[in-house]
Amino acid sequence: GASVLVTAGPTCEPLDPVRVFTNRSTGTMGYAIAEAAAARGADVVLVSGPTTLDAPDGVDVVQVETAEEMNEAVQARRDDADLVFMAAAVADYAPAETSPTKHKKEEGDLVLHLRRTPDILKTVGANRRPDQVLVGFALETNDGPENARRKLEEKNLDWIVLNNPTEEGAGFGASTNRVTLLSREGTSEELPLMSKSDVAEALLDRVLHAHPPESSA
Ligand code: C5P
Repeated sequence: GASVLVTAGPTCEPLDPVRVFTNRSTGTMGYAIAEAAAARGADVVLVSGPTTLDAPDGVDVVQVETAEEMNEAVQARRDDADLVFMAAAVADYAPAETSPTKHKKEEGDLVLHLRRTPDILKTVGANRRPDQVLVGFALETNDGPENARRKLEEKNLDWIVLNNPTEEGAGFGASTNRVTLLSREGTSEELPLMSKSDVAEALLDRVLHAHPPESSA
């Protein structure tokens, strides 16, 4: 009966009608969390960037393209959520201007101006309900634990899930993942390599054990 809000997938930031800035996220981890939470009886809203995945059974999917659209969809729903899992790989930069017509190829290099996108999770963390549980993800290629803990604090999270995309069987596109789960209380647990569905179940187990539904609903 808990309300769960999940973000998943990449965002796509248009340069012109045919070209976008995006990343290698496939949405698999976020979809697995949404599916596992719905199977446990939660009311799940999944805000998803463009992916090729099917909507999980019983999950309300809100499709978005850009970081701005994802931000609007999440901020409009954040106050209803008891548990928030932000697994989306939101683009940090987007073209400062989107041309209504296709950029023409010209002699010489092209220099583009990129602008920062909104940090969706940071805004959720800054406006959180006191009884809400916030879980973020960190994808780091170096200094993982230090960077993850800094993000946990900066974004005011309860948990952060650290994964390293350069590791065998982990990160973008893989059906498996190997993550470290860090908590606000300072604990750190390395989970073994397992399917993303099993990672989702393990995350829900840990989060619900630390925040039983009576205290988070
Ligand atoms: O700062 P960084 O992108 O590494 O933080 C990752 C976490 O923040 C993820 O949970 C991601 O979904 C979220 N995020 C966000 N909006 C952004 C960037 C990241 O919600 N613009």
